[in-house]
Amino acid sequence: MMSSPIRSTFTTSRKLEYFSEGELSKQTGHSRKEWPRVVLRELIDNALDACDEMGIAPNVLVRCDATSIEVSDNAGGIPVETVQRMLEFDSRTSSRAIYVAPDRGAQGNALKTLVGIAHVINGRLSIDSRQIRHSISIDFDVIRQEPVICHDTSPSARTTGTSVRLEWPASDSDHWPGDFTSDSSYESHLWWQLFGFAAINPHLTICLDWCGTTSFEHVASDLQWKKWKPSQPTSAYWYQVDDLVRLAAAYVQSNPDILIRDFLALFDGLSRTAKRKAVLDETGLQRARLRDLLSPDVDTPKWTAVLRSMQNNAQLVKPRSLGIIGREHLTQMLRKYGGADSIRYRKVEGDRAGVPYVLEAAFARLKGLTRAKFVTGANFSAGINDLFARSRGWIDDLDNTDPVLIFTHIVSPRLSFSDRGKGALLL
Ligand SMILES: Nc1ncnc2c1ncn2[C@@H]1O[C@H](COP(=O)(O)OP(=O)(O)OP(=O)(O)O)[C@@H](O)[C@H]1O
Ligand SMILES: [Mg+2]
Repeated sequence: MMSSPIRSTFTTSRKLEYFSEGELSKQTGHSRKEWPRVVLRELIDNALDACDEMGIAPNVLVRCDATSIEVSDNAGGIPVETVQRMLEFDSRTSSRAIYVAPDRGAQGNALKTLVGIAHVINGRLSIDSRQIRHSISIDFDVIRQEPVICHDTSPSARTTGTSVRLEWPASDSDHWPGDFTSDSSYESHLWWQLFGFAAINPHLTICLDWCGTTSFEHVASDLQWKKWKPSQPTSAYWYQVDDLVRLAAAYVQSNPDILIRDFLALFDGLSRTAKRKAVLDETGLQRARLRDLLSPDVDTPKWTAVLRSMQNNAQLVKPRSLGIIGREHLTQMLRKYGGADSIRYRKVEGDRAGVPYVLEAAFARLKGLTRAKFVTGANFSAGINDLFARSRGWIDDLDNTDPVLIFTHIVSPRLSFSDRGKGALLL
């Protein structure tokens, strides 16, 4: 006699978090209809972060047609190892995630999300960089309920920067990613997204090619414009004990014998031997290794003392060194795109418990607008929706039919968002 199956406990793969429409909508904070905007934001963020890291003015080309979105940049090109590591779905790969800093990308998650999106829309992802084309597609092992990533490489003519292309079959026409170029609202959304990036990045030259026609074209107003670089030393004032422990653990993983003395050199104002000696003397850790404070248990009181001493021996970072967009660039931008003479601009700089911020706001009546339009950004990345939607008490009386553009941007090393998809700021 055959025994009947009994209920049991099963393990499901964590990879699935990236490979179903429902999970990806949660991860990105946006429904499938909005994924083109998510793809665009993440790819432009990556392009700008990579250029800023190298200290070069970004030049970004976005190309969209009925079955693809492509973003190309002029940075150093994504390295082969980074592509390989981003395809390991049990971990996150980022050159920034572990530091507290005012960077655009900080989760090491976006490229993985794109691989997942490619799977859900039945498409494929290709990355051209450093003369290599990485073609990434996904099969699905039904029994194991696990995606199987296929990564092929072939020669590419691309010698400068990176070009990332998401392609999907034309047949899938019920909803995106069918021919999304036939829906004019997409072009408008993408146009405004590029406008947002250009408004908050004075050094950015960016162009949108929509089915072979230039839809948006903007030349940088200041090629020398400077913001806080992802490669700059991070400040001890921006950390809480948990962040510092996480960063230390990451360094110990790659170098188990690293000394606290060497770890301190990573931080703004602590690279000089005398400053580091002061921290080590104050905490009694002169010859200690970093791992001594992590195992067998995390020594939280000691970490608290270390962080306090690091802060006391370093200078506060001035808000303006995070980067200021400025009245001139915003006014120029608003004039160029239809702003009448009603342009207003305001900037507030400050810090909260040593964590600096700069908030910039601009307002203009724009010819051609039929309703109020919010253009928002955080850490020089343009929001998909109004990032400040949860904290705009001060314009409650705005009439939605007013043809005004309201621009708001904040930069700060510690920003909290309502979700992983950076949908709204929690201020
Ligand atoms: N255009 C690019 N040029 C050079 N390097 C890149 C580019 N795009 C991505 N990278 C590298 O790949 C890493 C992973 O990118 P990904 O977008 O997944 O994560 P992130 O930008 O660090 O964080 P987030 O998930 O918040 O975007 C980046 O940290 C960066 O090192
Ligand atoms: Mg990113």
